[in-house]
Amino acid sequence: MIDHSTIEKIFDAAQITDVVQEFVSLKKRGVNLLGLCPFHNEKTPSFTVSPAKGIFKCFGCGKGGNAVNFIMEHEHLSYPEALRWLAKKYHIEIEEKEVTAEEIQKQNERESMLVVTQYAARLFSENLFHGHEGMALGLSYFRERGFGDAVLRKFEVGYSNEKRDDFTQRAVAAGYKNDFLVMSGLTIDREGYLFDRFAGRIMFPIHSLSGQVLGFGGRIIKSDPRSAKYVNTPETEIYHKSRIVYGIFQARQAITREDRCYLVEGYTDVLSMHESGVENVVASSGTALTQEQIRLIKRFTPNITMLYDGDPAGVKASVRGTDMVLEEGMNVRIVMLPDGEDPDSYSKKVSDEEFKSYLRDNETDFIRFKTRLLLDEAQNDPVRRANLVREVVRSIAVIPDQISRTIYVKECSTQLGMPEEVVLDEVMKLRRQQTFRDRNAWPVQDTLVSPQVPAPKQKKTEETSYYSEKELLRLLIRYGSVVLKRQTDEETGREIITTVADYIISEIKEDQLTFEDPAFARIFDEIDFNVQQGLVVEDRHFVHHPDPVISAMAVDMLTEQYTLSRIWSSHGTYVETEDMKLKEIVPDSVLKFKSDKIKLIQKELRRAMTEAAGDDDKISSLQEQYKTFTSLQKKISKSLGGRIVL
Ligand code: CTP
Ligand code: MN
Repeated sequence: MIDHSTIEKIFDAAQITDVVQEFVSLKKRGVNLLGLCPFHNEKTPSFTVSPAKGIFKCFGCGKGGNAVNFIMEHEHLSYPEALRWLAKKYHIEIEEKEVTAEEIQKQNERESMLVVTQYAARLFSENLFHGHEGMALGLSYFRERGFGDAVLRKFEVGYSNEKRDDFTQRAVAAGYKNDFLVMSGLTIDREGYLFDRFAGRIMFPIHSLSGQVLGFGGRIIKSDPRSAKYVNTPETEIYHKSRIVYGIFQARQAITREDRCYLVEGYTDVLSMHESGVENVVASSGTALTQEQIRLIKRFTPNITMLYDGDPAGVKASVRGTDMVLEEGMNVRIVMLPDGEDPDSYSKKVSDEEFKSYLRDNETDFIRFKTRLLLDEAQNDPVRRANLVREVVRSIAVIPDQISRTIYVKECSTQLGMPEEVVLDEVMKLRRQQTFRDRNAWPVQDTLVSPQVPAPKQKKTEETSYYSEKELLRLLIRYGSVVLKRQTDEETGREIITTVADYIISEIKEDQLTFEDPAFARIFDEIDFNVQQGLVVEDRHFVHHPDPVISAMAVDMLTEQYTLSRIWSSHGTYVETEDMKLKEIVPDSVLKFKSDKIKLIQKELRRAMTEAAGDDDKISSLQEQYKTFTSLQKKISKSLGGRIVL
């Protein structure tokens, strides 16, 4: 783990302009710099860099953040990976947090295992291309199936000799320790007798995102009913089947470029598609995708297209396992291959161009596809039809984006010949029943995607103080040190200065109010602490905050304002800037916050009253309290002068 002071050093060194300019050419435009956005296709530049604030923001696609976020986004790195990337660029030595002896041992073990797997991949490749047995059995097999050397090399494909302990013997002779051979799954230890797991198989190394060999899949050549077609590395310290998809290392750039990822079943499907010039493809290795695998793909694109063999039983099975992908908010499409063909066979049957255009022309949206498939199956059987509706509804209900859900409800009700309200009703019912995973729970360490600002827990129409909390923090971060009031102390004649931060903090603390949202509460505490220490609250401090949730939030709050000021200038009617109106905006926002809090308290009181039914004393005391808050609310409303609708 990287310690805080190192993170600060990295943030200090990594000037946003410098970092962005490694990838984007920028032109000066006023106080900012402007360029073509690297995250979406555009002809006129809307990608803005603010050196003063240390942030970037694209007004086309909405992406924004600090220097670390830029590297995360651009290089598809996790937060710690991006920090390491920048540390390397600026020659900053990373001081890792103290690690325990056990952690060091684990780390050493993992590294030793990676050395072993890399050695093994080389040896197997050597066997395939230069060994007598490998060439005679392995290479000729690949040749027969039409695989060229280039693709075999690209995937580091190899061959493990038939002799029971050929690999193990050679690895031991080359100095590799038994322990690591066994730990990495290459060697099996049966009561002291060591032998190969993969003897006599062609070998597909499984690479990590950065190209390390984590494990292997080994296929037999001659079909033999007594042994499995594939043997795979078991779960090890470095190989977790559920966290990696086959081919991601070789596909990552193409996936970004094409903004789409094809999903197939087998190793050979991936290889064949590369052979046909389709390189944005990964394999699930014959099982349904896990959440971790989906998120891995999502780092590169939200668009996933699944290729199905023309075998109806298989299709139905996988269609049922696809809801997970929808649930992650991916856009899922389906391509059905012609009857009896898999990606491997079909890509070899037709020309590269024909194959590519087949994929393009036969793509169907997943929900539409599923609905049609089940409709065909159900025919006029009413029971089956009812089940079918339920299944389609379930798929729609897991989609996180409300707009997409609405569109699907419309479409499917037409397709199913049912009133839209009925389908919508079913979707809503399911959504209420199921507790959908909290997408906003965000581990600070090792996040895979850019951190996101937590979303409000309640909808805008329900009682929530989320928006007024956020607004107060925005004012604190952006204008904290701006002077709001100057008064003269009558006794001493000295001038008393109240900054925006002084004002907001004292208002909140005097009434003992708290922030509902935990991330907001953390920011507020930190600002409060800084102010007490006599430190100035600077927006840079939060933009560069080591907690990625806080820095993302700061960026969000600061750039939101950019967008606003754009709207203002385009209207041409606003002459005042927000700075000039702070004297109104700040107290109003505090009042709005208090008013929201009161609403929440009153809601709580109403609930308590229902619960206290029968206990008249309790009810009347609650009613008293309720009234006090109502009159407070009226006062606030009055002083807001109708400027904010309560
Ligand atoms: N698989 C496995 N174990 C098996 C069978 C299959 O792990 N016993 C996985 C492999 O990852 C394989 C995928 O499921 O790549 C798809 O299986 P299959 O279509 O049988 O294999 P292919 O790789 O397509 O091999 P081939 O084209 O040579 O039949
Ligand atoms: Mn196959």
